[in-house]
Amino acid sequence: MGGRVPAVLEIRNLRKAFGGVVALSGVDLTAGTDGILGIVGPNGSGKTTLFNVVTGVLKPSGGTVVWQGEDITGRPPHAIARMGIARSFQQAMSFPGLSVCENVLIGFEHGRIRRGAEHRRWRSPDEILSFVGLDGRHGETAGALPFGDLRRLGIAIAVATEPALLLLDEPAAGLSDRETEELAKLIERFPTMGMGVCLIDHDMQLMASICRRLVVLDFGAKIAEGPPDQVLHDPKVIEVYLGSEL
Ligand SMILES: Nc1ncnc2c1ncn2[C@@H]1O[C@H](COP(=O)(O)OP(=O)(O)OP(=O)(O)O)[C@@H](O)[C@H]1O
Ligand SMILES: [Mg+2]
Repeated sequence: MGGRVPAVLEIRNLRKAFGGVVALSGVDLTAGTDGILGIVGPNGSGKTTLFNVVTGVLKPSGGTVVWQGEDITGRPPHAIARMGIARSFQQAMSFPGLSVCENVLIGFEHGRIRRGAEHRRWRSPDEILSFVGLDGRHGETAGALPFGDLRRLGIAIAVATEPALLLLDEPAAGLSDRETEELAKLIERFPTMGMGVCLIDHDMQLMASICRRLVVLDFGAKIAEGPPDQVLHDPKVIEVYLGSEL
């Protein structure tokens, strides 16, 4: 457990089919620590499937996932988590019967095992709760949290594991404008701490304001990539969003 290795995820020609449904049809992308990478695309375009394959929840039908120079394609989720890739889920996940603090403690213990006490970013679960703005919720039962706080808790558990790369699947879905703004401020801090961040969300205003780069998926294929102002003016991208709000 020496110095910190920069987070570099390289996805090459990644494919995933569910029977006849091709969810990913040969995607290439790279995610580093140079700011937030946004992944956008219409419903069903393969965004969550991409996260599921990277984190080992699903095995790809083809292609490779390389993490910090090592081929991790098809490894099980616990092995990939241990290598420093953490995620939050589209359906906010927690251990509903445990307290907020106990939930974060689970991630925290995982991080302690992974990084060893001397390389820790966090000293205690409470430090993480305060970082994500849940300090007042410490002893509350996770299952009783309001929706916005439950999302923050999902992020707190992931961040507690001391990941080098954090994958966030629609963290702003269902949040008010004000909650979204607060969440954006939180997410923007992760890269400054040396964490790589891949963010999926449908809120284009949010994505344009905090992502350094955007990748656009449509029917499992990458149709555009670049800085948000360029990508969101790309005629191919406008076409796939035709009729919906961009
Ligand atoms: N476990 C599964 N079994 C069968 N089909 C699946 C499975 N997971 C995803 N799919 C299909 O793969 C395609 C891509 O789904 P995915 O959930 O990755 O899309 P998404 O871009 O995350 O969409 P959304 O924006 O609605 O979350 C869809 O056609 C979906 O129905
Ligand atoms: Mg999804």
